[in-house]
Amino acid sequence: MEHAATLPQTSRRPATPLTGTITVPGDKSISHRALMFAGLAVGETRISGLLEGEDVLRTAAAMRALGATVERTGPGAWHASGPGIGGLQSPDDVLDMGNSGTAARLLCGILASHDIFAVMTGDASLRRRPMRRVIDPLGATGAVFAAREGGRLPLSVRGAAEAMPLSYRLPVASAQVKSALLLAGLNARGITEIEEPEPTRDHSENMLRHFGAEVEVAAHGTGKLIRLRGQPELRGADVVVPGDPSSAAFPIVAALIVPGSRVTIGGVGLNPLRTGLFLTLREMGAAIEIVNAREAGGEPVGDLIVTASDLRAVDVPAERAPSMIDEYPILAVSCAMARGSSRLRGLAELRVKESDRLAATLAMITANGVKAQVDGDDLIIEGGGARGGATVATHMDHRLAMSALVMGLATETPMTIDDARFIDTSFPGFLPLMRGIGAAIEAAA
Ligand code: S3P
Repeated sequence: MEHAATLPQTSRRPATPLTGTITVPGDKSISHRALMFAGLAVGETRISGLLEGEDVLRTAAAMRALGATVERTGPGAWHASGPGIGGLQSPDDVLDMGNSGTAARLLCGILASHDIFAVMTGDASLRRRPMRRVIDPLGATGAVFAAREGGRLPLSVRGAAEAMPLSYRLPVASAQVKSALLLAGLNARGITEIEEPEPTRDHSENMLRHFGAEVEVAAHGTGKLIRLRGQPELRGADVVVPGDPSSAAFPIVAALIVPGSRVTIGGVGLNPLRTGLFLTLREMGAAIEIVNAREAGGEPVGDLIVTASDLRAVDVPAERAPSMIDEYPILAVSCAMARGSSRLRGLAELRVKESDRLAATLAMITANGVKAQVDGDDLIIEGGGARGGATVATHMDHRLAMSALVMGLATETPMTIDDARFIDTSFPGFLPLMRGIGAAIEAAA
């Protein structure tokens, strides 16, 4: 992907409000997990609504390379089955996880407790991201990892033939690390125990139960204690993937900041460990109505009706970060358009996302005339609107690209991004979908 021509795009204030009813692609976190669990289980899993973005396609390819059966049967419809816990085989080539931290880290967990050898790499963005947070704790299973300087990809792993169960307290709130350890624990004899100091998205725990594993979760201080019994009989179980709330965030904020807009987004996942942005936007005065609340595939889902709103500044506590960790770039756009000074607290983890998202978000808004600064791990943003006019460097980061294009819908002069290609990692069809509700986004001159 990094060798193809770039795809600069410009967005400007549309002549008329945004309107329409849309759906967003399937949840990225749930899609990765559905393929991984299905590829470990015995018997067929039918998945509907799978996100067919680059990141998830990397997971599909990796599971296939490890011996699972993974087939696309229609748009978003996939069938997968596996050899049962412990039955995957060494891949005969390097596993390339592209841009996806989730795919890379969760797969490390699977590899650690299989008696196989594998080598993993990724694109330039992923090769800069820290992997020690998974390979250090996973080493206690008996797996032997070797990685490049600083614990970066490429890495190799000789998995443990008889994996030891882990007992580990997460030093950072990370669902990826938690999930990697749970995946390793599936093929360890005994109980894997993980303490998380703050609750993070629990899709792995939910899906493990759905596939027949025994998982106990108990409140533990400010966080949770998770216990998984190893070597369960994992059986294929159908999965319905809800719309990704992290993707819905972009049309939602677009509808809020383009005056007169009203947009309905159907079938959005509303797992409370993912909806910190919606809570925060409502605190800012956003009109976001949830209708038709229901359950799909074991996750809460609803339709969102979003009406343009006069937003006011907000102070977001650090404890809320895990429930909206991917939403800070688009929240920063909302804060730039709001009245007053906002403070987003506790954003250290943003420095190790697809880009240094703290620095890149700050650069995105300040280059376009917003007064903002980073103070320790907090981002402070002076609202009141933005001039626009600058070109935003997106650093191979899909969420920065989409955030900047949404921002340009409300700046005084148009905004341009250097490259829209990475949007496909999580939100294929973003550009036509946004144009379909009236967003003025076009190829840059
Ligand atoms: C994810 C967890 C988050 C998030 C990522 C997806 C997951 O990362 O940023 O996009 O699917 O578990 P961390 O858990 O590392 O914060």
